Amino acid sequence: MSKRILSQSSWLRLLEPGPLVLVTSMFRSHPNVMTAAWVSPIGFDPPMIQLAIHPGRLTHELVSKSEMFGLSVPTMDLIRAVHRCGVISGNDQDKFEASGLTPIDPHEIEAPRIHECVAHLECGVLQRVSLADHDLFIGRILTAEADADYFGDRWYADQELPLVHHIAAEHYSGMTRSYAVNLDEDADES
Ligand SMILES: Cc1cc2nc3c(=O)[nH]c(=O)nc-3n(C[C@H](O)[C@H](O)[C@H](O)COP(=O)(O)O)c2cc1C
Repeated sequence: MSKRILSQSSWLRLLEPGPLVLVTSMFRSHPNVMTAAWVSPIGFDPPMIQLAIHPGRLTHELVSKSEMFGLSVPTMDLIRAVHRCGVISGNDQDKFEASGLTPIDPHEIEAPRIHECVAHLECGVLQRVSLADHDLFIGRILTAEADADYFGDRWYADQELPLVHHIAAEHYSGMTRSYAVNLDEDADES
């Protein structure tokens, strides 16, 4: 995989199709990884996202204490590891060991990137908001990078794109293909 650092204008597009992410955290040499579906862009300038984390997760504790988190974007070939990181807690097991995922050094924060994933966002926490049973962590993206085979200034979705989407419980879906809309023409092109 050949990854390159992205310019700020395309950071949020990594999350535009709504893929599942692996949230990495690190506090005092204690790294962890958790699967998350509830993540979304909320602003271009500065580039900001929101991530909902239940207070019962180890990730909640580590992100609250370190005030930073990483997001790594997995592909369908990692689906077993993705599910595993969403059903066991780092309080009970080392999930990097259990899932076979490899933590690698980040650029701007302390939480690791995950080597096997195709894209990474590194975020600092600006605010934590308690609204319902999950807390919203508002994160500012500090840097992002992606595999050039999959992402230029957007995901290459003209053919099948192996991002992972969550349906329910143990059910997942891949993305098939994208369509470009042209309102000036009768038929839309792919
Ligand atoms: C597909 C999937 C999506 C999930 N999305 C979230 C989420 O957005 N927020 C959250 O707090 N937990 C989510 N979870 C649950 C956590 O990943 C799970 O509780 C995990 O064991 C927490 O790990 P930790 O205690 O090591 O942080 C999800 C689980 C799965 C399987």
